[in-house]
Amino acid sequence: MREFEKIKRLPPYVFSIVNDLKMQLRRAGDDVIDFGMGNPDQPTPQHIVDRLCEAAQDGRNHRYSLSRGIPGLRKALCGWYKRKFDVDLDPETEAIVTIGSKEGLAHLAVAITSPGDLILCPNPAYPIHPYGFIIAGADIRHVPMGPDRDYFQEITDAVRDSWPRPKVLIVNFPSNPTAQVVDLDFYVKVVDFARENDLIVISDIAYAEITFDEYKCPSIMQVPGAKDVAVEFYSLSKTYNMPGWRMGFMVGNAEIVAALAKVKSYLDYGTFQPLQIAAAVALNGPQECVEEIRLRYQSRRDTMISGLHTMGWMAESPKASMFIWAKIPDEFKALGSLEFSKQLLIQGKVAVSPGVGFGSYGDDYVRIALIENEHRTRQALRGIRNFLNAGSD
Ligand SMILES: Cc1ncc(COP(=O)(O)O)c(C=O)c1O
Repeated sequence: MREFEKIKRLPPYVFSIVNDLKMQLRRAGDDVIDFGMGNPDQPTPQHIVDRLCEAAQDGRNHRYSLSRGIPGLRKALCGWYKRKFDVDLDPETEAIVTIGSKEGLAHLAVAITSPGDLILCPNPAYPIHPYGFIIAGADIRHVPMGPDRDYFQEITDAVRDSWPRPKVLIVNFPSNPTAQVVDLDFYVKVVDFARENDLIVISDIAYAEITFDEYKCPSIMQVPGAKDVAVEFYSLSKTYNMPGWRMGFMVGNAEIVAALAKVKSYLDYGTFQPLQIAAAVALNGPQECVEEIRLRYQSRRDTMISGLHTMGWMAESPKASMFIWAKIPDEFKALGSLEFSKQLLIQGKVAVSPGVGFGSYGDDYVRIALIENEHRTRQALRGIRNFLNAGSD
């Protein structure tokens, strides 16, 4: 049996335990309602798909594209940053297109880290945040996240207690999985902290447009001087229901953009050009679809939260993202998130993601992705109630 050092550094995928069980139940004929993966269920808005089809008919678009992305798309992205955040970015030097932000994050890790570099990463986290760097050979210093934690104290302690000193700080707000949000003042402090401690900041705002009620998501790029220390990832996957298109971006510090561009120039030729042309239409075109998508998640959130509250599961209502990060009710806490998720699946026929899959500090929680419509959500609430009632008897 061959052993590969890199592969040995990747632990077994916790989510596959719940996924396998879900498939087993479905094969046995059970109707499982699935809130597991953050995979938008709705189609891409029609005007974007129409532009893709049109561009795909043009043979000139069938050639290799540019690994940094076509200029029109980089311009469209910079236009979005200007309109949304009043931030000026140079599409030539401060913006790059990636094959989904996941690819960009992973290859950025390859571009800027060497074996032994230390990365400050949230825990719980979206898995590519730590594992992109682990694949690149770096080491992770986990920053525990949660409502009772003082973030700046945590990162101050982490820097003080680490040698070699950390090189990179990852921030992701609205957070996957915790749905935690921040205000601009938070980023002002992050930029100061990064300067003082000679850190590169990688921000991920994949859920920038999936915000609820009055909350508006800021960008680290709004902080004066952020470009000295930071880059930021954005993605069309959630904003425009385009997860399968693999369309992401990184903006910010020109040296870091150039480093990613160089690695990518060896690895890929850019996404299929019609996808990039249509992605520019998504960013430049009518934005009513964004509001519709936002409101759909908001109303699913309200249905799920009010249903959970009615049965006494007082999960916090998220201000953004497509997730509810629900603390496991006290009487089930001893099960841990994996066993709780398995029991909920077997008895309630509802799939959620165990918090421990996002990191050990997530084990008191499960993540509920708002990817089922309201009818199915109500149906799922009945299953959840039956499970909770049976369990607490
Ligand atoms: C926080 C976060 N970043 C990045 C991604 C990946 O997005 P993309 O589809 O652009 O690779 C996701 C997807 O769920 C995410 O939750």
